[in-house]
Amino acid sequence: MAKRLQGKVALITGGARGIGAAAARLFSQHGAKVVIADIRSDLGQSVSRQIQLESGHPVSYVQCDVADDSDMQAAVDTAVSTHGKLDIMYSNAGIIGEKINLLEKKVCILSVNPQEFRKMFDVNVYGSFLAAKHAARVMIPEKSGTILLTGSVATATYGGAPHIYAASKHAVVGLAKNLCVELGQFGIRVNCISPFGAATPMNEEWIGLDEKALEEMFSAVGNLKGVVLKPEDVAEAALNLVSDESKYLSGLNLLVDGGFCLKSAY
Ligand SMILES: NC(=O)c1ccc[n+]([C@@H]2O[C@H](COP(=O)([O-])OP(=O)(O)OC[C@H]3O[C@@H](n4cnc5c(N)ncnc54)[C@H](O)[C@@H]3O)[C@@H](O)[C@H]2O)c1
Repeated sequence: MAKRLQGKVALITGGARGIGAAAARLFSQHGAKVVIADIRSDLGQSVSRQIQLESGHPVSYVQCDVADDSDMQAAVDTAVSTHGKLDIMYSNAGIIGEKINLLEKKVCILSVNPQEFRKMFDVNVYGSFLAAKHAARVMIPEKSGTILLTGSVATATYGGAPHIYAASKHAVVGLAKNLCVELGQFGIRVNCISPFGAATPMNEEWIGLDEKALEEMFSAVGNLKGVVLKPEDVAEAALNLVSDESKYLSGLNLLVDGGFCLKSAY
C-alpha cells in the first residue's frame, strides 16, 4: 500500500472512538505519527496502543478537553515535543446533545436548553477554534501544515438536526473558511469535512439505536443506495483532504453525504 502520510505528524481530537478513531487508524496505516487528544482516557489509551500494534507507527494519547485553552495548548506542545513538528490538525471532537425521542419532534426551539447551548458551542465551536489556534501557532513558523475542522451534513440541509448543533456546525464552516484566507499566506491549508449520518457511539447514544438499526435508518433516508456510510469512509475522505495529493485544496466544506443535501433541496 502506498503510504500517503509517511513522516507526517497528525493530532486528532476526539480520536478515542467513532470517526476520530477510524481516522487515527487510517492515518497510522499511512505512516503518520498520530497523537489522539480526547477526554476518554481509558478508551484513548487502549485505542492508541491497539492502533500502534496494528500499524507499527507511533500512536500516543493525550488527555485533552478541546474546550480548555491550556489543554489544547498542551496537546499541541506534546505532539511537537514528541515528534518535532505538527503537520496535520484534525479537529474532529464534537457533541450533538442530549438523547432524543425519535417519536417526538426533535427540532423545537421552545425546548432548547440554555446549558446545552453553551456546552455545544464550547466543544464544537470554541474547541475547533482552539485546535486551529494552537495548530496555527506551531505551523505558521514552519510555513506549512493543514488544518481540518469538522462540520456536518447539517451545514447543507435544514430541519433534521437540533438547532444548536446545526448552528454550531455552521460556525465551524465559517471559521474554516475565514482561517483559510488568513493562513494561506503561510502555506497552511484549512478545510472542513461534513459527514452524513454514520453509526458511531455518538449517534447510538443520541438516538438510542444500535449500530445495525442506525445503518438501516441512515440508508433508508440516504440518497446513495446500496452502500452504507461508515466511520472508515469519513476517515478516507479526511485522508484525501490532509494528504499532499490535495496540496491546492483549501477553504472547502467537503460533504461526505452521497448527494443527500442535493436530494433534500427538491
Ligand atoms: N457520526 C455522524 O453521523 C456524524 C455526522 C456529521 C458530523 N459528525 C461529527 O463528527 C465528529 C465525530 O463524531 P462521532 O460520531 O465519531 O462522535 P463520537 O461521540 O462517537 O466520538 C467523538 C469523540 O470526541 C470526544 N470528545 C467529545 N467531547 C470532547 C471534548 N470536550 N474534548 C475532547 N474530546 C471530546 C469523545 O470522547 C469521543 O471520543 C463530531 O464533530 C460530529 O459532530 C458526525
